Amino acid sequence: MEHGQSLAYAAHAQKLAVETGYWVLYRFDPTLGAAGKNPFQLDSRAPKKSPLEFLKLQNRFTKALSNPGSKERAQELHAGLIGFLAKRYAEYAQLAKAPMVEVAEVELPHYVKVTQEKDVLVLYGTETGTSRQAAERCAAHLLAKGAMGGRVLVRSALETEPAEMQKHEKVVLIVSTIGYGEVPTMMIPHEEWLAAQHKRQTMKGVTVYAFGLGDSAYEQTFCAAATMLARQCQEAGATLAGEVGRGDYQHPDDYIPTLDAWLAQNFA
Ligand SMILES: Cc1cc2nc3c(=O)[nH]c(=O)nc-3n(C[C@H](O)[C@H](O)[C@H](O)COP(=O)(O)O)c2cc1C
Repeated sequence: MEHGQSLAYAAHAQKLAVETGYWVLYRFDPTLGAAGKNPFQLDSRAPKKSPLEFLKLQNRFTKALSNPGSKERAQELHAGLIGFLAKRYAEYAQLAKAPMVEVAEVELPHYVKVTQEKDVLVLYGTETGTSRQAAERCAAHLLAKGAMGGRVLVRSALETEPAEMQKHEKVVLIVSTIGYGEVPTMMIPHEEWLAAQHKRQTMKGVTVYAFGLGDSAYEQTFCAAATMLARQCQEAGATLAGEVGRGDYQHPDDYIPTLDAWLAQNFA
């Protein structure tokens, strides 16, 4: 109402928001990942109308565009918005098309099974899906190297009981940081379980590798979740192998170069 939009046109406004790319419709279902499918599904079509059509439904934007004092700046911002929305849609479309690496549970060929080592668990915690891709990249590296023996299991925290971590000889944690230094929601049970294992040293005998995904713009909490979980594992008796890797969203190629270097260092 305040923006001069009649509620009678609310459905029209919502439709325009989607058609202009101002609001993107998508679904993320981590359980599809377990079935070897892409958990990210994009429902919106590519924007086919200018976002101006949507914004012009609201007084505050039409005023900014007609007022001589703000007109030029408003046009500049609108041009930026059009670019931003197109780029965002292209990124989402890319995510929806991302090829699935079939690593949910892969048996290594018998000739690379040099020992009777237990399976390697690559456990990821994600909020928006990036860590899942990083976990698959990690598993692909482990499989290519054949270095670990046994099987490589890639599992989301959502489908992995916290106590599962103690059953594997090697656990690779791939975890993003959200909120302000928090673990992804799906990893809260794991954080709590680890905190309760300090006295019992339940993670004794497990070697943990940890790689964090984060954004160095968050100076104080850059990859804090991975660092904290790695410390919790150690305090629960695990051996921490090497350093905690820290992939940075600020890097033009995001986490990929740091992850590749970290993998090469830890799993040569
Ligand atoms: C709301 C929000 C809060 C974030 N907070 C932090 C943070 O405190 N520290 C950090 O290093 N990165 C932070 N990030 C950056 C994410 O960790 C980064 O984008 C990561 O690639 C997301 O991975 P995911 O898709 O697996 O969740 C934050 C991102 C968002 C969207």
